[in-house]
Amino acid sequence: MEIKKVGVLGCGLMGSGIAQVAATAGFEVTVLEVEQKLLDKGFAGIDKSLAKFAEKGTIKETPQAIRARLKGTTSMQDLVECDLVAEAVIENIAEKKKIYSALDGIVKKDAIFASNTSSISITELMTATHRPERFIGLHFFNPVPIMKLVEVVRTIATADEVFDTGYEFGKKLGKVPVRTRDKTGFIVNRIMVPYLLDAIRAYEEGVGSIEDIDNGIKLGMGHPMGPFTLLDFVGLDTTYYITHVMFDEFRERRFASPPLLKRLVMAGWYGRKTGKGFYDYSDPANPKPNKL
Ligand code: CAA
Repeated sequence: MEIKKVGVLGCGLMGSGIAQVAATAGFEVTVLEVEQKLLDKGFAGIDKSLAKFAEKGTIKETPQAIRARLKGTTSMQDLVECDLVAEAVIENIAEKKKIYSALDGIVKKDAIFASNTSSISITELMTATHRPERFIGLHFFNPVPIMKLVEVVRTIATADEVFDTGYEFGKKLGKVPVRTRDKTGFIVNRIMVPYLLDAIRAYEEGVGSIEDIDNGIKLGMGHPMGPFTLLDFVGLDTTYYITHVMFDEFRERRFASPPLLKRLVMAGWYGRKTGKGFYDYSDPANPKPNKL
């Protein structure tokens, strides 16, 4: 099956990134949002990112040529012709199912539905549609235009042809796709989440300071970011949500939220996006660890 037209649901950080890489790869892309101002915000981020790539000479076309393949809409009807719909809306099962169910009756029957969820079961989401064999996970990583990986997730119902098309689509986007099954957390979060939670536990137990643990991992293991910088980058609310889904699935302590993570989330300290998390971002170029 050939993918030509792509629909993206949600123009937040992930949705706008997916839309950008799909348009850059030559696909016609329509992005659905609930309000025009959310489209404007997402498209402004795309413009900024494309300008950086143009400056570095890492895109073959001008940002304007890429942007000409990107449309925003607030009407589901505009997705009727899409061959693949990639969903990146809020991590809320009821919300996602509501959108899938509505779109199922609008988008052409042989189109593939893909979710960018990081922890919700693809199997559960597919039940909101009448196309379970045409449903996969396509899990991208933040920042989508930079990170090379996409996890391609199959359920027990996914047709081989659909899974292969999803895998090839990932390659066409310039990503390195990896194949995985619908087990909560897939490959990366299955391993990354216990690691991040363990860093918080190490801090709670007084093993080291936030900065020293971050530097330990960054310099000792060659990671681009230490665990606390990465937690603040991913978002503590997002991580907290993922821990719940993973703990619920596996019932293992390694997936359970440490008390400090819960306290930070209760306080509304979600990381970079709120200006405060493990670090304080009052001076964004020079984050200072908070006294926790
Ligand atoms: N578009 C275009 N260029 C971008 C960009 C974007 N969206 N974001 C960053 N860049 C560019 C910067 O402009 C910069 O370019 P120059 O080198 O020319 O200045 C370059 O990328 C590097 O960025 P920075 O200098 O800001 O900082 P950095 O060297 O630390 O790189 C990073 C930033 C790429 C984010 C790097 O720190 C990194 O790889 N961090 C780890 C990210 C990670 O692990 N992501 C996965 C999170 S988990 C997830 O997403 C899934 C989940 O389910 C939770």
